[in-house]
Amino acid sequence: MLRQRTIFFTAIVAVVFSVVLAQDRAIAFPWSIDMYRGEAVQPLSVAPRVMPKGTVSTEGAEPPMSRIASMRLRNPLPSTPGNIDMGHKLYDMTCAPCHGATGKGNGPVRHVLEIPPANLTGDAVTGMSDGYIYGTIRDGSIVMPGYGDALSPTERWEIVLFVRSLQQSQNATAAK
Ligand code: HEC
Repeated sequence: MLRQRTIFFTAIVAVVFSVVLAQDRAIAFPWSIDMYRGEAVQPLSVAPRVMPKGTVSTEGAEPPMSRIASMRLRNPLPSTPGNIDMGHKLYDMTCAPCHGATGKGNGPVRHVLEIPPANLTGDAVTGMSDGYIYGTIRDGSIVMPGYGDALSPTERWEIVLFVRSLQQSQNATAAK
């Protein structure tokens, strides 16, 4: 008698469970996949929205490009006192700690660096193209970290203008 009852109840429970599980609507059971069965759009089930024509990024993002490929980029900014001044401010904040206020590679954190920061007014960097310096600011160098996430393309070009003005003023002084 007890065995028959157990079989009977087990069968009822099994029937109830299979009816509940057969539902494809969200009915809060089984709880583990309840959210999955909801009305939400599944990842990648809809193609990503295409950007409307003429959309301009608010972050000034640019297509991915290596430092070497950046060598050929031209500085779109004119070398005006205003742009150089802006570059000077950004340089003091971002580059001067390592490269020093005058670009000689002797900034205040120089003593903790294993590898010395480059002299930005030396022949090597003076001979580099604007695009290469721009790409170095964005991606970093061998041990120098990149500042692509901290400086917009315009800000990087402004720094390039300031580095050029440092080189010019120091080379002019050296020639005297
Ligand atoms: C944390 C320290 C540090 C900061 C900050 C830093 N640099 Fe450097 N930079 C270095 C070191 C070290 C090197 C030399 C080793 C190397 O090439 O990685 C270097 C090398 C360079 C070079 C030469 C690259 C080459 O290919 O030889 C340039 C140009 C340069 N830095 C520009 C900048 C500019 C511009 C900034 C500011 C946006 C800046 N750096 C910020 C540490 C730094």
